[in-house]
Amino acid sequence: MAVTTAQLSKWKQQKRPITVLTAWDYAIAQLLDEAGLDVILVGDSLAMTALGHETTLPLSLEAMLHHAAAVKRAVKRALVVCDLPFLTYQESEQQAIHTAGRVLKETGVQAVKLEGGNSAIAQTVATLTRIGIPVMGHIGLTPQSVHRLGYRQQGKTSQEAERIYQEALNLSEAGAFALILEHIPTEVASKITAAVSIPTIGIGAGKNCDGQVLVTADLLGLTPKQPPFAKAYLNLREMITEAAENYIEDVKQQQFPQ
Ligand code: KIV
Repeated sequence: MAVTTAQLSKWKQQKRPITVLTAWDYAIAQLLDEAGLDVILVGDSLAMTALGHETTLPLSLEAMLHHAAAVKRAVKRALVVCDLPFLTYQESEQQAIHTAGRVLKETGVQAVKLEGGNSAIAQTVATLTRIGIPVMGHIGLTPQSVHRLGYRQQGKTSQEAERIYQEALNLSEAGAFALILEHIPTEVASKITAAVSIPTIGIGAGKNCDGQVLVTADLLGLTPKQPPFAKAYLNLREMITEAAENYIEDVKQQQFPQ
């Protein structure tokens, strides 16, 4: 049965961990869906992992629509969530409605994700939710703010931890259906997970979250430099290089085609 936002909430209550990975194209998304993943996130990290940018900031809405539509065409069971790129939702609520509306209408994904948890973002989440667009929040390390925060762990001081905790409450009250908690101490993530009724999905936030997410390029060992909290389940860089070298050798030696 297809996964819904309501199902995620039931899984939190049942303490059944929620599994999330990112995808950026049809082939990867199809394999992840067939493997039984719960949620597939078309994360704006694709700007770095698939498009070669240094940060997520340059990603355009048009590029995101192109990738999200390809992912959605592949997925039958998982809930597909699409990131709203930098500066496609922060200017005004009108801009956020317009962008999120285009994402749902033009790609078929079921939900959007946006970064931050201050009162302006919470207001945007409330507005989108009210018009029927499910929103996933994302707090802690928010890569769209890399030039202000860097990629360092957030919530290490009690003041920062309190701010992140407050943001989680803001987003939950605004109607977000789930929350990504990125690169924050385990204790902060645990406190948030216990306080909110919506599922928390951790990345570098310890094992007490309701679910976990990884960037699939990290999972597959495709990224040359992994974040400290990632785990590579495969070394695809090495495997692809070896396959390409073998092919080059075979063609040069006239071993392929036989
Ligand atoms: O863009 C992305 O891949 C993300 C994950 C880090 C959660 O937002």
